[in-house]
Amino acid sequence: MREAVFRPYGRRAAPRALPERMDGETAFETFRDTLESLASVNRMTFGYRPNLRFLDRALENRRGAKPLLIVDVGSGYGDGLRAMARHLAARGVEAELVGVDRNPHAARASVEVAMEETPGVKIRWITADVFDYARRAPRPDLVTSALFTHHLEDEALPRFLRWMDGTARAGWLVNDLYRSRFAAAGFGLAATLLRKHPFVRHDGPVSFARSFRSADWRRFLAEAEIEGAELRIGAPFRLCVEKHV
Ligand SMILES: C[S@@+](CC[C@H](N)C(=O)[O-])C[C@H]1O[C@@H](n2cnc3c(N)ncnc32)[C@H](O)[C@@H]1O
Repeated sequence: MREAVFRPYGRRAAPRALPERMDGETAFETFRDTLESLASVNRMTFGYRPNLRFLDRALENRRGAKPLLIVDVGSGYGDGLRAMARHLAARGVEAELVGVDRNPHAARASVEVAMEETPGVKIRWITADVFDYARRAPRPDLVTSALFTHHLEDEALPRFLRWMDGTARAGWLVNDLYRSRFAAAGFGLAATLLRKHPFVRHDGPVSFARSFRSADWRRFLAEAEIEGAELRIGAPFRLCVEKHV
């Protein structure tokens, strides 16, 4: 944690230079418990709010009534996708949601979670690296991701943005962290006091160090030659980038 907090915050830490524990080899139980603990942090910090607002805006712009196909990249424990499923079902919107995560423990953990019925909304879980998935996936209406992009190196970010922009028919959302030393230190302290999983205590501050400020996103968007994307603070210390078509 010290390494993540006491470093220069002018630029993001490269993931390869500051690894997260969840990205290493882990037993299933460790990965699942980490993600379950992260899900409780998501709930406490209004982490789903940007996704639900994004969905509302996409529904306002929607043309036709065909079921929506939505892909969530780096879906982890699936809590974000389940929140979106409930949101859509409550509005009577038919949709197929696909959670894509490269760690096979993610799909297994997501399937094990009991969930209430969401009429008209189905969720599938796929184990794949996003760039492999991108090569063979059908074009979705929307692509979302939460706390995912800080797992990518700088070189991969324009590529990821370009894929989303080229494939998503109606829009895309990146929901990730705002790079802040204050948030990294505060998160580390709060996670310790609240007895969050040891991986979350470690990976939280590291995630802040690996995350973004607006200038980073403007640079990646320019490299990807994408116009019309908007940046906003979607929840406390969440810097989001989104585009609606
Ligand atoms: C911090 S978790 C976020 C989980 C969830 N979206 C959330 O908001 O809590 C990041 C997830 O991204 C996955 N991931 C990292 N790199 C990936 C890649 N290249 N392709 C697909 N999934 C990836 C990890 O396995 C992990 O489950």
